[in-house]
Amino acid sequence: MKKYTKTAMFFHWLTALLIIAAFWLGLTMVDIPGITPTKLRYFSWHKWLGITILGLSCLRLLWRLGNRPPEYPANMTSWQKKAASGLHILLYVLIFSIPISGYLYSLASGIPVIYLGIFPLPVIMDPNPELKPLLKQLHYVLNMTLLASFCLHVLAALKHQFFDRDGVLKRILP
Ligand code: HEM
Repeated sequence: MKKYTKTAMFFHWLTALLIIAAFWLGLTMVDIPGITPTKLRYFSWHKWLGITILGLSCLRLLWRLGNRPPEYPANMTSWQKKAASGLHILLYVLIFSIPISGYLYSLASGIPVIYLGIFPLPVIMDPNPELKPLLKQLHYVLNMTLLASFCLHVLAALKHQFFDRDGVLKRILP
């Protein structure tokens, strides 16, 4: 069966790794009480990770538009193929909307983002106390949607591996 290309594998596994790190850091940092140097450092790392994911997602989408993935295996029914494509589109939407909502939340809070502590990113929004709680809620809800989609994605991969035994998981493994 045809495998994914090396570039597709690179984007897939690097994005997965960075998203798990940003997600874990996001949950950890908001649980630190008060304002401590560690908390501020975690916030910065979280934002840098998120911006890196956004940049990587832009490159990935551009690349994906010119490169079709291998066909689904013949044993998949038409609804399974539709469900798989739908979930993949949702995951693409989330890897853009999550970092963008976090970025806008930071700006609405009046905190410009300085990538890696060196590059100031564009301030495309003034501080906005009305939008601030909405953007925070949006960032949270999108992240919980990502968590649910990620679980479905992994469960589907495991079903292919252990029930269908159709080699789908192996196609994305280096
Ligand atoms: C794919 C990338 C990202 C993921 C997976 C992610 C994930 C998360 C998670 C799980 C939380 C905890 C939410 C909660 O429990 O309330 C969080 C909070 C936060 N994120 Fe992100 N995030 C990403 C990108 C970004 C970016 C790019 C920024 C800003 C530049 C950002 C800024 C924030 C801020 C400021 C909070 C704290 C919210 C609060 O004040 O409670 N995030 N993020």
